[in-house]
Amino acid sequence: MNGCPNFHTADRVVLRRLSLDDLARFQGYRTDPEVGKYQGWSPFSNEEAANFLSEMNRADPFLSGVWFQLGIADRQTNDLIGDIGVCVAQDEEHAEIGLTLDPGSQGQGLATEAICAAAELLFASTKIERIVGIIDARNTPSIRLLERLGMRRVQTVAAIFRDQPCEEHWYELLRR
Ligand SMILES: CC(C)(COP(=O)(O)OP(=O)(O)OC[C@H]1O[C@@H](n2cnc3c(N)ncnc32)[C@H](O)[C@@H]1OP(=O)(O)O)[C@@H](O)C(=O)NCCC(=O)NCCS
Repeated sequence: MNGCPNFHTADRVVLRRLSLDDLARFQGYRTDPEVGKYQGWSPFSNEEAANFLSEMNRADPFLSGVWFQLGIADRQTNDLIGDIGVCVAQDEEHAEIGLTLDPGSQGQGLATEAICAAAELLFASTKIERIVGIIDARNTPSIRLLERLGMRRVQTVAAIFRDQPCEEHWYELLRR
Protein backbone atom coordinates (compact mmCIF):
# COMPACT_ATOMS: atom_id res chain seq x y z
CA MET A 1 0.00 0.00 0.00
CA ASN A 2 3.02 2.32 0.16
CA GLY A 3 1.57 4.06 3.21
CA CYS A 4 -1.29 5.50 1.10
CA PRO A 5 -4.86 5.40 2.32
CA ASN A 6 -7.46 3.67 0.18
CA PHE A 7 -8.89 5.95 -2.46
CA HIS A 8 -12.44 4.76 -1.80
CA THR A 9 -14.17 2.00 0.13
CA ALA A 10 -17.48 0.39 -0.90
CA ASP A 11 -19.46 -2.49 0.62
CA ARG A 12 -17.37 -5.36 -0.73
CA VAL A 13 -14.48 -3.72 -2.58
CA VAL A 14 -11.89 -1.03 -2.02
CA LEU A 15 -10.20 1.10 -4.66
CA ARG A 16 -6.54 1.33 -3.72
CA ARG A 17 -3.12 1.83 -5.20
CA LEU A 18 -1.62 -1.03 -7.16
CA SER A 19 1.62 -2.43 -5.76
CA LEU A 20 4.30 -4.96 -6.61
CA ASP A 21 2.62 -7.37 -4.15
CA ASP A 22 -0.26 -7.62 -6.68
CA LEU A 23 1.94 -9.08 -9.41
CA ALA A 24 0.69 -12.71 -9.36
CA ARG A 25 -3.00 -11.76 -9.17
CA PHE A 26 -2.62 -8.98 -11.76
CA GLN A 27 -0.92 -11.33 -14.22
CA GLY A 28 -3.45 -14.06 -13.40
CA TYR A 29 -6.27 -12.15 -15.09
CA ARG A 30 -4.37 -9.77 -17.39
CA THR A 31 -2.87 -12.71 -19.33
CA ASP A 32 -6.29 -14.37 -19.84
CA PRO A 33 -7.14 -13.90 -23.57
CA GLU A 34 -10.90 -13.66 -22.83
CA VAL A 35 -10.31 -10.80 -20.38
CA GLY A 36 -8.25 -8.84 -22.89
CA LYS A 37 -10.43 -9.65 -25.92
CA TYR A 38 -11.85 -6.12 -26.36
CA GLN A 39 -9.25 -4.16 -24.41
CA GLY A 40 -6.84 -1.56 -25.73
CA TRP A 41 -3.92 -3.18 -23.90
CA SER A 42 -2.01 -6.41 -24.56
CA PRO A 43 -0.71 -8.70 -21.78
CA PHE A 44 2.55 -7.65 -20.12
CA SER A 45 5.54 -9.91 -19.51
CA ASN A 46 6.12 -10.41 -15.77
CA GLU A 47 8.92 -7.86 -15.88
CA GLU A 48 6.78 -5.28 -17.69
CA ALA A 49 3.92 -5.91 -15.25
CA ALA A 50 6.24 -5.45 -12.26
CA ASN A 51 7.48 -2.14 -13.69
CA PHE A 52 3.89 -1.03 -14.40
CA LEU A 53 2.72 -1.87 -10.86
CA SER A 54 5.69 -0.02 -9.34
CA GLU A 55 5.06 2.98 -11.58
CA MET A 56 1.35 3.09 -10.64
CA ASN A 57 2.28 2.74 -6.97
CA ARG A 58 4.11 6.07 -7.18
CA ALA A 59 2.07 7.89 -9.83
CA ASP A 60 0.08 11.04 -9.16
CA PRO A 61 -3.59 10.19 -9.64
CA PHE A 62 -5.84 12.01 -12.11
CA LEU A 63 -3.28 14.19 -13.91
CA SER A 64 -4.78 15.49 -17.13
CA GLY A 65 -3.82 13.57 -20.26
CA VAL A 66 -2.23 10.67 -18.33
CA TRP A 67 -3.76 7.22 -17.70
CA PHE A 68 -3.79 6.22 -14.02
CA GLN A 69 -4.61 2.66 -12.97
CA LEU A 70 -6.33 1.95 -9.64
CA GLY A 71 -6.52 -1.48 -8.05
CA ILE A 72 -9.86 -3.05 -7.12
CA ALA A 73 -9.39 -5.20 -4.02
CA ASP A 74 -11.56 -7.49 -1.93
CA ARG A 75 -12.52 -5.43 1.11
CA GLN A 76 -12.02 -8.37 3.51
CA THR A 77 -8.67 -9.66 2.27
CA ASN A 78 -7.23 -6.69 0.32
CA ASP A 79 -6.44 -9.17 -2.49
CA LEU A 80 -6.44 -7.62 -5.96
CA ILE A 81 -9.49 -8.65 -8.03
CA GLY A 82 -9.26 -6.15 -10.89
CA ASP A 83 -8.24 -2.69 -11.96
CA ILE A 84 -9.73 0.53 -13.26
CA GLY A 85 -8.01 2.86 -15.71
CA VAL A 86 -8.83 6.56 -15.64
CA CYS A 87 -7.65 9.34 -17.93
CA VAL A 88 -8.70 12.91 -17.27
CA ALA A 89 -8.79 14.84 -20.57
CA GLN A 90 -6.33 17.66 -21.22
CA ASP A 91 -9.08 20.26 -20.81
CA GLU A 92 -10.26 18.52 -17.59
CA GLU A 93 -13.87 18.58 -18.86
CA HIS A 94 -14.26 14.80 -18.87
CA ALA A 95 -12.45 11.58 -17.97
CA GLU A 96 -12.40 8.24 -19.77
CA ILE A 97 -12.76 5.11 -17.68
CA GLY A 98 -12.20 1.39 -18.32
CA LEU A 99 -12.50 -1.57 -15.98
CA THR A 100 -11.19 -5.14 -15.81
CA LEU A 101 -12.27 -7.79 -13.31
CA ASP A 102 -10.72 -11.19 -12.66
CA PRO A 103 -13.11 -13.81 -14.11
CA GLY A 104 -13.20 -15.52 -10.69
CA SER A 105 -14.78 -12.38 -9.24
CA GLN A 106 -17.26 -11.68 -12.05
CA GLY A 107 -21.01 -12.23 -11.88
CA GLN A 108 -21.44 -10.95 -8.30
CA GLY A 109 -21.98 -7.23 -8.84
CA LEU A 110 -18.42 -6.35 -7.74
CA ALA A 111 -17.58 -4.47 -10.95
CA THR A 112 -20.75 -2.42 -10.55
CA GLU A 113 -19.73 -1.55 -7.01
CA ALA A 114 -16.21 -0.65 -8.13
CA ILE A 115 -17.25 1.54 -11.04
CA CYS A 116 -19.83 3.39 -8.88
CA ALA A 117 -17.08 4.03 -6.33
CA ALA A 118 -14.72 5.20 -9.08
CA ALA A 119 -17.34 7.60 -10.46
CA GLU A 120 -17.93 9.07 -6.98
CA LEU A 121 -14.20 9.40 -6.46
CA LEU A 122 -13.61 11.08 -9.82
CA PHE A 123 -16.40 13.61 -9.40
CA ALA A 124 -15.20 14.37 -5.86
CA SER A 125 -11.48 14.65 -6.74
CA THR A 126 -11.55 16.47 -10.08
CA LYS A 127 -13.45 19.23 -11.88
CA ILE A 128 -14.72 16.99 -14.69
CA GLU A 129 -18.33 17.28 -15.81
CA ARG A 130 -18.61 13.88 -17.57
CA ILE A 131 -17.26 10.35 -17.34
CA VAL A 132 -16.92 8.63 -20.71
CA GLY A 133 -16.77 4.90 -21.49
CA ILE A 134 -15.93 3.63 -24.99
CA ILE A 135 -16.98 0.01 -25.52
CA ASP A 136 -16.74 -2.38 -28.45
CA ALA A 137 -20.33 -3.10 -29.50
CA ARG A 138 -19.64 -6.86 -29.14
CA ASN A 139 -18.61 -6.46 -25.49
CA THR A 140 -22.02 -7.20 -23.96
CA PRO A 141 -20.97 -7.60 -20.27
CA SER A 142 -19.24 -4.20 -20.36
CA ILE A 143 -22.25 -2.57 -22.01
CA ARG A 144 -24.47 -4.01 -19.27
CA LEU A 145 -22.01 -2.73 -16.65
CA LEU A 146 -22.02 0.86 -17.93
CA GLU A 147 -25.81 0.84 -18.29
CA ARG A 148 -26.18 -0.46 -14.70
CA LEU A 149 -24.11 2.53 -13.59
CA GLY A 150 -26.66 4.75 -15.35
CA MET A 151 -24.40 5.76 -18.24
CA ARG A 152 -26.19 6.90 -21.39
CA ARG A 153 -25.20 5.81 -24.91
CA VAL A 154 -24.49 9.04 -26.80
CA GLN A 155 -23.06 7.78 -30.09
CA THR A 156 -21.92 4.72 -32.02
CA VAL A 157 -18.91 5.12 -34.28
CA ALA A 158 -17.12 2.90 -36.78
CA ALA A 159 -13.64 1.96 -35.60
CA ILE A 160 -10.74 -0.38 -36.31
CA PHE A 161 -9.79 -2.75 -33.50
CA ARG A 162 -6.77 -5.04 -33.95
CA ASP A 163 -6.93 -4.48 -37.72
CA GLN A 164 -10.63 -5.43 -37.91
CA PRO A 165 -13.54 -3.03 -38.55
CA CYS A 166 -15.96 -2.78 -35.63
CA GLU A 167 -18.36 -0.41 -33.93
CA GLU A 168 -17.76 1.38 -30.64
CA HIS A 169 -20.49 2.65 -28.35
CA TRP A 170 -19.68 5.85 -26.48
CA TYR A 171 -21.34 6.19 -23.07
CA GLU A 172 -21.36 9.12 -20.70
CA LEU A 173 -22.32 9.88 -17.13
CA LEU A 174 -22.92 13.51 -16.22
CA ARG A 175 -22.01 15.09 -12.89
CA ARG A 176 -25.27 15.61 -11.00
C1 LIG B 1 -16.81 -5.65 -17.75
C2 LIG B 1 -16.76 -6.63 -16.58
C3 LIG B 1 -15.92 -6.04 -15.47
C4 LIG B 1 -18.18 -6.88 -16.06
O1 LIG B 1 -18.13 -7.86 -15.05
P1 LIG B 1 -19.48 -8.47 -14.43
O2 LIG B 1 -19.09 -9.51 -13.48
O3 LIG B 1 -20.41 -8.81 -15.54
O4 LIG B 1 -20.12 -7.22 -13.68
P2 LIG B 1 -20.52 -7.17 -12.14
O5 LIG B 1 -19.37 -7.56 -11.29
O6 LIG B 1 -21.11 -5.84 -11.90
O7 LIG B 1 -21.60 -8.31 -11.99
C5 LIG B 1 -22.88 -8.16 -12.57
C6 LIG B 1 -23.50 -9.51 -12.80
O8 LIG B 1 -23.56 -10.19 -11.55
C7 LIG B 1 -24.91 -10.52 -11.24
N1 LIG B 1 -25.01 -10.47 -9.77
C8 LIG B 1 -24.95 -11.55 -8.97
N2 LIG B 1 -25.00 -11.17 -7.69
C9 LIG B 1 -25.10 -9.83 -7.65
C10 LIG B 1 -25.19 -8.87 -6.61
N3 LIG B 1 -25.16 -9.23 -5.33
N4 LIG B 1 -25.26 -7.57 -6.94
C11 LIG B 1 -25.28 -7.18 -8.22
N5 LIG B 1 -25.18 -8.07 -9.27
C12 LIG B 1 -25.10 -9.37 -8.97
C13 LIG B 1 -25.74 -9.51 -12.01
O9 LIG B 1 -27.04 -10.00 -12.28
C14 LIG B 1 -24.93 -9.37 -13.28
O10 LIG B 1 -25.14 -10.42 -14.17
P3 LIG B 1 -25.72 -10.14 -15.67
O11 LIG B 1 -24.80 -9.13 -16.34
O12 LIG B 1 -25.66 -11.49 -16.28
O13 LIG B 1 -27.08 -9.59 -15.46
C15 LIG B 1 -16.12 -8.00 -17.00
O14 LIG B 1 -16.93 -8.58 -17.99
C16 LIG B 1 -14.72 -7.85 -17.53
O15 LIG B 1 -13.75 -7.68 -16.77
N6 LIG B 1 -14.56 -7.93 -18.87
C17 LIG B 1 -13.26 -7.85 -19.50
C18 LIG B 1 -12.74 -6.45 -19.45
C19 LIG B 1 -13.39 -5.53 -20.47
O16 LIG B 1 -13.70 -5.90 -21.59
N7 LIG B 1 -13.53 -4.26 -20.10
C20 LIG B 1 -14.05 -3.27 -21.02
C21 LIG B 1 -13.84 -1.90 -20.55
S1 LIG B 1 -15.11 -1.39 -19.36
